[in-house]
Amino acid sequence: MIDWNKNSARESDGAARTRTARDIPSFPRTTVARDQEPRLNANPTISALELKQAIARCLGASISEVESRINASLNSQHSCVKQLANQANAMAGKRLRPVLALLSARAAEPVGKSTFEQARRNLIYIASAAELVHMASLVHDDIMDQAESRRHQPTIYRTAGEHAALLLGDFLFTKGYATASSCGSSFPARKLALAATQLCEGELRQQLSAKNWDLSVKEYLSIVGQKTASLCAVSCRLGAWQMGAAQEVQRCFHRFGELVGLAFQVFDDWLDYWGSDQTGKTLGTDLAQLKPTLPLIKFVQSCTPATRHQLLTLASSGSAELLEAAYEMIRRSDAGEKTLAIAQKLVERAVTCLNAIPDSSARRALEMIAAFSINRPV
Ligand code: IPE
Ligand code: IPE
Ligand code: MG
Ligand code: MG
Repeated sequence: MIDWNKNSARESDGAARTRTARDIPSFPRTTVARDQEPRLNANPTISALELKQAIARCLGASISEVESRINASLNSQHSCVKQLANQANAMAGKRLRPVLALLSARAAEPVGKSTFEQARRNLIYIASAAELVHMASLVHDDIMDQAESRRHQPTIYRTAGEHAALLLGDFLFTKGYATASSCGSSFPARKLALAATQLCEGELRQQLSAKNWDLSVKEYLSIVGQKTASLCAVSCRLGAWQMGAAQEVQRCFHRFGELVGLAFQVFDDWLDYWGSDQTGKTLGTDLAQLKPTLPLIKFVQSCTPATRHQLLTLASSGSAELLEAAYEMIRRSDAGEKTLAIAQKLVERAVTCLNAIPDSSARRALEMIAAFSINRPV
């Protein structure tokens, strides 16, 4: 189940403290109590817990069926493979893509019909396949980032090494396509394969753009559109497709997922500078690799040539201390606010896409997800 507040241990002792981007317009490293979390602009009465409950109400047991399907898909007759695959799945993550697929299906269900129930089996395959592709991409991404932690755990890259992580990622990608192909139609597998191709292209383009600090915002969003938004978009679209929604309705869901994916990644790139260990993953890898994500692009666009030269010198020095100084230059700037402003606009556009479909509790849950994509604990 989706859990945007991933600190269960701290939550359970009643002393949970977290913060969100909205709390910290000037981005100091402070915390606020969970019950003081700011409310959403779009809907001032929604909290993270309410989002979780709203999703559970719409999806019922289908979300745990996705968990079972993912576990079944990760099976291997070789215990060493199974063990590694289970490790990649051990801390489930937010399950954003399965939730997007299932909620889109619910929101596209014709009133008074039980289309969701009839299509349930295929929806579980689609939702699980999207998550497997996502999981594969993370295992590969952690190799490129040389990341130590993910989902509050050591990465596969760290525990099993680069080669095993590479091969496990391949294993997960193929499990994803195999799972999608169990739907009885080749359409979901074809669409997921296309999204995965775009994901890989986006990751490749980002890798090749390292050191290109003149990358435009447009080009950046095009890369992010491939590497993150494509899978979110196809998850939403396939949910609606499975319900027999008209082409133009499918397009609305696709566009919604795409814009949420863009906002989500823009916020994630903000987290790479301003996030804390509450994210559960290794942060700070973008500048270390000289990758021009939105905070860096925004910083460079408004600094002097001398400052840019200083930043480049510090960031590429090979010294952890100087790299930290480079981070501080960006953290102290207004690049964070500019980044969040763009993320906010993307969310507003995403929510507008849903105007084309009738109001329902599933549609409202999708709107909540859009808002939380840029308002989760950091
Ligand atoms: C992390 O995705 C990679 C990005 C696209 C930013 P998620 O934040 O959805 O990862 P999990 O699955 O919840 O861990
Ligand atoms: C990778 O982006 C997203 C993928 C599509 C795999 P990031 O490199 O920003 O993701 P994190 O921050 O490691 O989760
Ligand atoms: Mg990464
Ligand atoms: Mg990141």
